[in-house]
Amino acid sequence: MILAPSILNSDFTQLGKSIEMLDASEADWIHLDIMDGCFVPNISFGMPVIKDIRRLTTKPFDVHLMIVQPEKHIQAMRDVGADSITVHYEVCPHLHRTIEQIHQSGAKAGVAINPHTPVEVLTDILEIIDIVLIMSVNPGFGGQKFIYQTIPKIKRLKQMLMAENSGAQIEVDGGVGLQNIEVLLQNGADAFVVGNAIFSDPQPAEMIKKFKHIPRNQSFV
Ligand code: DX5
Ligand code: ZN
Repeated sequence: MILAPSILNSDFTQLGKSIEMLDASEADWIHLDIMDGCFVPNISFGMPVIKDIRRLTTKPFDVHLMIVQPEKHIQAMRDVGADSITVHYEVCPHLHRTIEQIHQSGAKAGVAINPHTPVEVLTDILEIIDIVLIMSVNPGFGGQKFIYQTIPKIKRLKQMLMAENSGAQIEVDGGVGLQNIEVLLQNGADAFVVGNAIFSDPQPAEMIKKFKHIPRNQSFV
């Protein structure tokens, strides 16, 4: 399983230390939530912050753009160190072109869908996507409650990917914790964004270890 801690709910007065902690931890990717106050009701951080924290770690930066017109900022995100760039289906009328643009920048391309968006809208584009990000909360804030209705979507998406022989990864974002990760694994998820469950713990590095060593009883077949 791929663990992608999100720094959104971390203490930003300690940002450098948090990144160093993640760098030394068993985390696989570092998930960066970029919000514009337009597509989502919150504003987070942008390129100058990514550029500075890039120096502190070699872990891949998994950039989640919750912004309108993401195509305007792809190259800039890549230039400050994004390894994968995920855009929202709901704001990309020319999704194929946007994905090509991400690939041309040299980054992996992800597409995120909101809780109410069916996975089937991605049928004709799956072939060129590296990551499908299933939002399991309404995007905008960390620390929200997991929406359980998204679980059947993970299962359906896994079946779609298997039918296409696609190697795209399924990433789940929002409200993920030790209490629900197993069911997500069983339904076919590969990568997990975890914010609050890690950063609200007094020992975040220990928490990361717990996530990385979840016993796997059954996996999706
Ligand atoms: C929500 C963000 C998530 C979120 C994850 O809009 O995309 O990455 O911060 O944090 P938790 O695990 O707290 O839901
Ligand atoms: Zn996110």
